[in-house]
Amino acid sequence: MTPILGPDSLEVLSRDADQTRRVGALLGQLLRGGEVICLDGPLGVGKTVLAQGIGTGWGALSPVLSPSFVLVREHHRASDSRRLLHVDFYRLEDPQEARSLGLEDWLGDADTVVIIEWPERATAILPSQRLWVRLDFANGDRRRLLFTAQGDVYFPLLRSLRRAIFGG
Ligand SMILES: Nc1ncnc2c1ncn2[C@@H]1O[C@H](COP(=O)(O)OP(=O)(O)O)[C@@H](O)[C@H]1O
Ligand SMILES: [Mg+2]
Repeated sequence: MTPILGPDSLEVLSRDADQTRRVGALLGQLLRGGEVICLDGPLGVGKTVLAQGIGTGWGALSPVLSPSFVLVREHHRASDSRRLLHVDFYRLEDPQEARSLGLEDWLGDADTVVIIEWPERATAILPSQRLWVRLDFANGDRRRLLFTAQGDVYFPLLRSLRRAIFGG
């Protein structure tokens, strides 16, 4: 794995699903609430695997699953009353439907972390400040994860994530 230096982006090359899960767990440990994390990339690339890792690191008591027919799943943890919402817009029929979920109340809420798969299907409801993660297929099981701070409030998070993954 090689880091790209810069305040607004971080690239990670993951070898396998476990490594993607571990990167997610390091990110999950850093989340305090209020973060919105968009997972963007083709079907089967590992968005849910990364979300599972984030859930583990955050301390979710229930496993983060592929939501299939459920658009939103809510997770809790033992240490406090904060929540983690895992949203999957894969089956969103119409961007307007996203509004009917009432997610706007949770996006940016200080006690809530929101992870969104297929965020580009509901851009209208996304806050302008978010951590954007682009996942792409590389050779074999490898995946390229590109974390981009969209909004400078995510610079410190990205810096901490870089330190957690690569040390230093
Ligand atoms: N490096 C990797 N990172 C993440 N997933 C991987 C990797 N290599 C293989 N896989 C496999 O790819 C699949 C990713 O599935 P999933 O996370 O559900 O994709 P998505 O949510 O993007 O549609 C899983 O079967 C996982 O085991
Ligand atoms: Mg998925």
